[in-house]
Amino acid sequence: MAPTTLPQTMKTLLQASRQSTEVIFTTAPVPTPTHPEDVLVRVHAAAPCAGELRWAVDFPDSVPTSKVLVPCQDLAGTVITSPANSGFAAGDRVYCRIDAGRAGAARDYALPRVSELAKVPSNLDWIKAAATPLSALTAWQAIFVQGTLDAAGIKGEAKAREQNAKVRVLVTGAAGGVGSWVVQLAALAGAKSVVAVCSGDKEEAVRQLGATEVVDYQKTTIADWVAEDAVREVDLVIDLIGGKTLAGCWAAVRTGGTLISINTPPDVVKPVGLDKPVAKSLFFIVEPLGSNLAQIGELIEAGKARPTVDSVWEFANFKAAFERLESGHAKGKIVIKVSDVA
Ligand SMILES: NC(=O)c1ccc[n+]([C@@H]2O[C@H](COP(=O)([O-])OP(=O)(O)OC[C@H]3O[C@@H](n4cnc5c(N)ncnc54)[C@H](OP(=O)(O)O)[C@@H]3O)[C@@H](O)[C@H]2O)c1
Repeated sequence: MAPTTLPQTMKTLLQASRQSTEVIFTTAPVPTPTHPEDVLVRVHAAAPCAGELRWAVDFPDSVPTSKVLVPCQDLAGTVITSPANSGFAAGDRVYCRIDAGRAGAARDYALPRVSELAKVPSNLDWIKAAATPLSALTAWQAIFVQGTLDAAGIKGEAKAREQNAKVRVLVTGAAGGVGSWVVQLAALAGAKSVVAVCSGDKEEAVRQLGATEVVDYQKTTIADWVAEDAVREVDLVIDLIGGKTLAGCWAAVRTGGTLISINTPPDVVKPVGLDKPVAKSLFFIVEPLGSNLAQIGELIEAGKARPTVDSVWEFANFKAAFERLESGHAKGKIVIKVSDVA
């Protein structure tokens, strides 16, 4: 049962309908835990994901019609109530990505599940914490679960580092929310090289995160860049952009390499007539796993990795936050302050 000191109603954002990308401000009752894993959290900061207002139309299987359309699946906040023996207690500083199938976190109180939560590293404030989960989880799973780098390399395990040192990685959208994590995690794991595809003004930023080569997609195409020198081919592509960018990645991946996209199934845009067998080419959707987030938190706590915040917006200014997000040129995460402590 929630403590009686909780307010009856709260402020919340809502997507106007499944078909609309309009977001409105309103009030709603404070949610009540109903699932055995539900944790009631006071939200301090929340973060949207590029494209999320189109998910109900683009990925209807991931967004059931029963979903209350609260946007922003990433949160940082304080536990109010949690199930017994969950590992979380009232007052804990937590962060997570809430599964896209359930109401998000652009509201005073949200209901993440135990399996989604991790404790916030002590060196992250609420804004940086909210900027972390989805981007870092997606990058982690793209490289270490779907991709061919071994996460043990991050901890210095010799065999993993020996294997990772043979892998050239290329990432598109390298300066954005997910991309900045792909660059960092690949570099930390000891990849042979990390090729960042981004606009030229972000070169310095991605190099600081660990990129060893930078391709300015506004000046050249990936295919033209690779055509200049065959040694530029890579073993692992992580694509975040889709479309022509992903089509160009087919030129970059070596025969027998791996092509992962979080935007589009790579085979959909494979150039007609191209005969280049690869070991794996797939699209995947991130799993909101608190266990992965805890591993990422260890890196942050140790000062080895960090989230990148593009900008911070007051709750009342949410429309501007979504406009900035949908511009497609964010340099890291866009974060919305939900409570006064953020
Ligand atoms: N499948 C999943 O589970 C999953 C999970 C998370 C995110 N996503 C999707 O992944 C995509 C990226 O998410 P995000 O949060 O990282 O987005 P983001 O923060 O908005 O970053 C997008 C980045 O892409 C760059 N960019 C735009 N056009 C480009 C191009 N043609 N080539 C290279 N870079 C380009 C932009 O930088 P410049 O200013 O340099 O152009 C920007 O930094 C979104 O579509 C999102 O919906 C999917």
